[in-house]
Amino acid sequence: MRLRTLHPVKRLSGEITVPGDKSISHRAVMFGSLAKGDTLVRGFLGSADCLSTMDCFQRLGVSIERDPQGPGTLLIHGAGMHGLTAQGDEICCLDTGNSGTTTRIMSGILAPQPFASLLSGDDSVNSRPMKRVMDPLSQMGADITSVRGNGCAPLLIKGRPLTGITYHSPVASAQVKSAILCAGLYAEGPTAVYEPAKSRDHTERMLRAFGADIEELDGFGVRIHPAEELRSPGQITVPGDISSAAYYIAAASIVPGSEVLIRGVGINPTRDGILRAAKAMGADITEVSRDDSGAEPIADLLVRTAPLHGTVIEGGIIPTMIDELPAVCVMAAAADGETIIRDAHELRVKESDRIEAMTNGLRAMGCAIIGTDDGFVIHGGTPLHGATIACHKDHRIAMSFAVASLIADGATVLDNESCVRISYPGFFDDLESLVQE
Ligand code: S3P
Repeated sequence: MRLRTLHPVKRLSGEITVPGDKSISHRAVMFGSLAKGDTLVRGFLGSADCLSTMDCFQRLGVSIERDPQGPGTLLIHGAGMHGLTAQGDEICCLDTGNSGTTTRIMSGILAPQPFASLLSGDDSVNSRPMKRVMDPLSQMGADITSVRGNGCAPLLIKGRPLTGITYHSPVASAQVKSAILCAGLYAEGPTAVYEPAKSRDHTERMLRAFGADIEELDGFGVRIHPAEELRSPGQITVPGDISSAAYYIAAASIVPGSEVLIRGVGINPTRDGILRAAKAMGADITEVSRDDSGAEPIADLLVRTAPLHGTVIEGGIIPTMIDELPAVCVMAAAADGETIIRDAHELRVKESDRIEAMTNGLRAMGCAIIGTDDGFVIHGGTPLHGATIACHKDHRIAMSFAVASLIADGATVLDNESCVRISYPGFFDDLESLVQE
């Protein structure tokens, strides 16, 4: 594990283009692989998680060229919905690395294939809950088992014909919804998924662009009809990742005298909770330009330092900012008054237990923070001081504490800097480029 030592800065200023959206990059590889025809992807995020998805499809026989038209491009020669193969192996073994998205959505894609596969990742992925996809897929007729019998990966999937279902998911999870929708593409009859709150809808948007018959239903539902084939739209442009932009939104808001322009950020309404919550805390964020012409809306965001105050974040906004909550905790630590975050129990089953990781780290830096079952109570405004932070090999924890270090007295040491490669390999260089002496 590589340590990283960070120091406070005077101010941040300049422009930054955040790397491509992780969720959309995964889906571009998945649907490009399952489609007939070639798909050129622009703005692909070449991070460890998305490369795990790419490796899986290459292992399943799909030809994918990396950077054929410069960095961030991908040319996928689609195999068609029935073109994946185990390449002669009795069981196709797929390594999903640290990626929960790959593991869960792949399980829905593999369940109806005419071969058996084994999905397994690193220790973190192999301890995350998979029953949430195993249950609905089993109801559709899938043969999917947890090899160790603990409801986690490794998952052994023996391909079977599937039947459409109507499923009421107990969690608002785009990974669960997407796994079911992908299985539904191959099922007999329509498949509907309802969620308790709306999760990110990138799968629905992109599948539509690939010609799938998919409709929104009242009450946070979506229905898909089986497809003969998906057709490539030819090109996909991946917007900048709002989850990566969140670190600059937090940093520019709390470091005095800062002004940062974040270019090309995806602002899909199922992902923009960070903007709404930050503004509710008093953040100064302006959309300086906006483009609604593509499948996903994009904007340039100008963020200036502002006096922040506490707020309450709960309910339906939570799934729209689930990955940004660690960065919001740092904003809350710098804000005047109390911030309460509730209904975020899902943070306990991410790459790490993010409630525990943020609570322990911010407390070590002098913040008055209590971790609750499903969130946090943070009394902000106390000056932070540097500390040694356990990142738990979790990229979002490492980047959030890098932001906290910018306003902390003395040195902050991250016990693991390399985990940022999961979603944002160039993070420390990009952050450094904004620092003004
Ligand atoms: C993702 C969905 C979210 C999110 C994850 C990416 C996706 O997870 O936290 O980083 O790409 O579908 P859940 O589906 O578990 O909420």
